[in-house]
Amino acid sequence: MTLKGFRSAILDFVDDPFYVSESESVRYIPDGLLVLEQGKVKELGDYELLKEQYVGIPIESYPHRLLLPGFIDLHIHFPQTGIIAAYGEQLLEWLEKYIFPTEHKFKDKAYCDRVAPIFIDQLLRNGTTTAVVLGAVFPESVDSLFEECDRRNLRTIVGKVMMDRHAPDFLCDTAESSYYQSRALIEKWHGKNRLLYAVTPRFAPTSTPQQLTYARQLLSEFPDTYLHTHLSENIKEVEWVQQLFPDSQGYLDVYDRFGLVGERSIFAHCVQLTDAEFDRLAQTKAAIAFCPTSNLFLGSGLFNIEQATAKHAPIKLGLATDVGAGTSFSLLQTASEAYKVAQLQQQKFSPFQAMFLATLGGARALKLEDKIGNFDVGKEADFVVLDPRATPVMAFRNEQNNEQMTPITIEELGEQLFSTIVLGDDRTIVATYVMGELVHAQ
Ligand code: GUN
Ligand code: ZN
Repeated sequence: MTLKGFRSAILDFVDDPFYVSESESVRYIPDGLLVLEQGKVKELGDYELLKEQYVGIPIESYPHRLLLPGFIDLHIHFPQTGIIAAYGEQLLEWLEKYIFPTEHKFKDKAYCDRVAPIFIDQLLRNGTTTAVVLGAVFPESVDSLFEECDRRNLRTIVGKVMMDRHAPDFLCDTAESSYYQSRALIEKWHGKNRLLYAVTPRFAPTSTPQQLTYARQLLSEFPDTYLHTHLSENIKEVEWVQQLFPDSQGYLDVYDRFGLVGERSIFAHCVQLTDAEFDRLAQTKAAIAFCPTSNLFLGSGLFNIEQATAKHAPIKLGLATDVGAGTSFSLLQTASEAYKVAQLQQQKFSPFQAMFLATLGGARALKLEDKIGNFDVGKEADFVVLDPRATPVMAFRNEQNNEQMTPITIEELGEQLFSTIVLGDDRTIVATYVMGELVHAQ
């Protein structure tokens, strides 16, 4: 029996701070011990109370740092890594001008194999241990990414993009080929070690009704896969969807009519939803991936956090980078932009709400809260260690506000956490662990 321990200030969530108070949702131990056995959580508690029980086990100490569950990125594009930060366009023009030509390169397995480790290194150096990833339309891109994630033992969800119209010919599959290729990938990868599959029609405009019907068939045949797509990001996109599907009662209804809206569905963006669509997402227990850096970068709009988390119709919510429309792989930077999106609408978005979405909230959105998201006993030990003084300005900021080096109260922690989110990035991530093993260190 091999045990090991990690001593640090430890923060995780036991409930949702959008709906219950911080004292009921935040679990904070200023001097904590996280004990692992075979990569899973065996115990979490006060160091002073537990130390007698674990005399002799190896303990890694992170004084004056903050240990949190690994971050969960609910929506990101593998083939857009090399085109992040492309100038000047909004969604539909940006896709044509920059994204489609770039995604074409992923036809070549050797190129995919070159980019996959770069992409995964970016996730890990930013503290992201689980991501929901769109591949390209080519199955090779999905194989390549799954191979790399499996090598690193990451709990990752990936899908081949299904796209049979309104894209260049070199990037289109057919309804049939998308079905057979997706099915082969599901049979090969879904449930292998920590890997899971998402059926991934790109968005309604690039799929024929036949292709959406095939997507539904895949979900029926493999009911524990996910449905992952884009929804109501940009005004011109929403208008286009209405023209393409004139019988539908709006954008979400297109997916709904094809049986694609359910509790394993993840919809990225949702910045242009109607009230009825918010209600329908709540009713069906579908999840939204909130992508603030992307929504600001493409000028898409402001996500209504308050409406998504309304008490009468709560929607499962997570944070997402959406690289390459998103401008950072960091969920700290993403949370910082989410705060500004809230500010522009006179809404509140607390640092605890932000870190909940990046951890347990994301896990719940994926129905993986029995496996990841916090440090409950038996969960897979994916975690990150943050340095609230990672840069000179952060050191000065936090020195000013904390007499002692480690916050004691939730209030002190909230203060330090907020500035860590707003000023933080990959330099803030001291270490990233996957199943208790170190996979990135500064
Ligand atoms: N909608 C359809 N495809 C995409 C994409 O690649 N990125 C974003 N942000 N929105 C999309
Ligand atoms: Zn996207």
